[in-house]
Amino acid sequence: MARAIRATQQELDVAVQALRSGEVVAFPTETVYGLGANAQHAAALQKIFALKGRPISNPLIVHLDSARFLHRWAREVPAAAAKLAGCFWPGPLTLVLPRAANVLDLVTGGQDTVAVRVPSHPMAQQLLTAFGGGIAAPSANRYGHVSPTRAEHVREEFGDAVPVVLDGGECKLGLESTIVACIDGEVRLLRPGQITLTQLRGEVGAVASGPGPGAPRVPGSALAHYAPATPLRLVAVGQIERLAAELSRDGARIGVLAQRPPLGSFRNVTWINAGSRLESFAHDLYAHLRALDKAGAACLLVQEVPADESWDAVRDRLTRAASATAPDPGDMP
Ligand code: TXA
Ligand code: MG
Repeated sequence: MARAIRATQQELDVAVQALRSGEVVAFPTETVYGLGANAQHAAALQKIFALKGRPISNPLIVHLDSARFLHRWAREVPAAAAKLAGCFWPGPLTLVLPRAANVLDLVTGGQDTVAVRVPSHPMAQQLLTAFGGGIAAPSANRYGHVSPTRAEHVREEFGDAVPVVLDGGECKLGLESTIVACIDGEVRLLRPGQITLTQLRGEVGAVASGPGPGAPRVPGSALAHYAPATPLRLVAVGQIERLAAELSRDGARIGVLAQRPPLGSFRNVTWINAGSRLESFAHDLYAHLRALDKAGAACLLVQEVPADESWDAVRDRLTRAASATAPDPGDMP
């Protein structure tokens, strides 16, 4: 059943009350679900780190209902940042800016920068407006796991430990926001997302990409991240059937996430054809990885995605997942 995309007044009251009393609240955004807390409440922020099992040095994104009070969080908003905010907010863009003096170290990871985003999901907007302040929120999954794109994924991750989960249905995009740092006169893409490098360059000219000397650290972009529990391998399209047959020969179950149906039939292979349309592939990616985890597979084979720039975010997450779970190369055929 599709869920109403707006929260009822009662749901909002409960969520806002929880935030005001220093509790965490899970809420939907257009990218993935977030695990939110009052960004000005140290004890509430501590709960996020404890629940996720996330190192305290890994900074959080502050979510705002608009750019109106951006200056309360950033001491400086460079022209390029203002331009990008004007183009892409509300939406799946996070800006890393010089922090304002009173932003808590728990939000910034002790760095001199703060990450800020204005999400477009109507329920996130409702919550932020009703709360009236910044909500610090990482993705609502345990540290290193796949991000949740449905309320039920959040419940699977945390159960009763997170009693307030606003259910806004399936996240429209399904992959985390594009993160762009605007620091020291430079614009740098730190995490690819739906908004591409070409789009960013189209708005502000030169944009660097990836880590660089003096660039802000992105602790959450350690290679071993965004991973399902089952070991995952990226496989060229022409190799999937051969590998699936080989690996499942001794009765082991093998999961496949491909962009086409299988050529032939296999025992012990759970095959998901996610199609070749980027939007639906990204939308369903994390739900598919969760489903394949549950299928009890010994190994997941994921078809390599197109080299095209529009697939950068998908490729980034899959490459991380593969590296996080890569078995000892000696174990592979
Ligand atoms: O789409 C999204 O961005 C979702 C939704 C909930 O908004 N949030 C999300 O948060 O993906 P999280 O914490 O899972 O990933 C945020 C990434 C982390 O890798 C973190 O290290 C990085 O952003 N980050 C946060 N603040 C930063 C800062 N000041 N400088 C550099 N990186 C930062
Ligand atoms: Mg995350």
